[in-house]
Amino acid sequence: MPERIDKLLSATGRWSRKEVRDLIRQGRVLVEGRPVQRPEEKCDPTASIQVDGQTVDCSPFVYLMLHKPAGLLSATKDARQKTVLDLLPDHLRRRGLFPVGRLDKDTVGLLLLTDDGALAHSLLSPKRHVDKVYLARVDGWVDQDDCQALAAGLVLGDGTHCLPAGLKPLGDGSACLITLQEGKYHQVKRMLAARGKPVLALKRLSMGPLTLDEGLEPGAWRLLTGAELASLRATVSGG
Ligand code: URA
Repeated sequence: MPERIDKLLSATGRWSRKEVRDLIRQGRVLVEGRPVQRPEEKCDPTASIQVDGQTVDCSPFVYLMLHKPAGLLSATKDARQKTVLDLLPDHLRRRGLFPVGRLDKDTVGLLLLTDDGALAHSLLSPKRHVDKVYLARVDGWVDQDDCQALAAGLVLGDGTHCLPAGLKPLGDGSACLITLQEGKYHQVKRMLAARGKPVLALKRLSMGPLTLDEGLEPGAWRLLTGAELASLRATVSGG
């Protein structure tokens, strides 16, 4: 839906409304290659919008994948400790991005960040059964008994019922892939600890159709591609 160009540009968090008005007056804002004349001009957020020759993404929401490193909290802010938001530039932090689901401080791997609350809510809803795949290294060796126990749905020591989960031993069983359709507190660690195989290291590899880009070093991030976003949307709409 068309929006005022000054609103679209200031919503990116990079410029104030006043700065946008100045940019427009100075002829530095182009839409589809044509200089914008007035701040109240309307344009489609998906149009080609450039400021000083640089393309600016004015889509209403931002979606990015981060390779979460160990040692940061999956939170938006914390009084004492660094969070994953500290890895992002100011203009993205100001947009109010948040992580979709949490990883523990020592867990690494795929983290989706967005400001699209509706999509995040749908992805996290247990009703959607979105698979989350983790690679775990354990103290011990997982075996077929563990696979069967997880497939049946574990009941943890505190009475917590877990949904059936997938477990695939790798190599000698000291590593495994574990697939969950929910996200209870410390779930992978608690499930494997309940089987007597405590987790030594944990990495999330995928969430629904979204797979960690192994080209991203720990701490690096990138925007989702159009295809990745389309596949996430299809997942939550049941497509
Ligand atoms: N399960 C855990 O135990 N920790 C995580 O960070 C994610 C899933």
